[in-house]
Amino acid sequence: MLFIQLTGLSGVGKTTLAYLAKNKLMERGYQVEVIDGDEYRKLLCTDLTFSKKDRIENIRRLGIVSHLLSRNNIISILAAINPYECMRQELINYGKNVKTVWLNCDLEILIERDVKGLYKRAMLPDYDPQKVYNFTGITDPYECPVNADLSIDTGIAPIETNAKIFVDFILSEIENIQRQKV
Ligand code: ADX
Repeated sequence: MLFIQLTGLSGVGKTTLAYLAKNKLMERGYQVEVIDGDEYRKLLCTDLTFSKKDRIENIRRLGIVSHLLSRNNIISILAAINPYECMRQELINYGKNVKTVWLNCDLEILIERDVKGLYKRAMLPDYDPQKVYNFTGITDPYECPVNADLSIDTGIAPIETNAKIFVDFILSEIENIQRQKV
């Protein structure tokens, strides 16, 4: 049905928004699957690091899963940082049913929120054993999507408002797909 690549920095709210949308869409009778980067790194991608090569491989694998699901009448939401434009383009090439949603937020807000404590660890000096290396947005790049279908700044409105914007977007895309079929 629909394949949403939900991209953005760590802590921007991808997982929360994806699951809120999943619940709301399931109440309407849709089948939805969230393919979450954090979760799949413990399942399908345990061998992968955060190098560029491995991040690309990570998204390639999750893209295959998302594509297979979306081909079978399921709305798949791939919630991963997905930092490279080349990979997002590769997924877009799966077809017209692939949409890019960019969750954006001021880095200062993410550093202040730091729900997982990873930003703090990424900014530690090199000799510190707690330091996290290659951390996206701090010591690793995030290429902003050049033509996202929807962008939401999660640093402004409450999560419920953003969830409504996201769900309304998905519903209108489903309508478009169904209209194209007729
Ligand atoms: S991606 O870049 O390959 O798309 P993915 O979404 O799977 O990343 O995983 C990101 C999650 O891994 C983050 O939300 C964070 O919890 C954790 N993580 C651990 N180390 C890093 C790192 N160096 N850079 C980014 N995220 C990291």
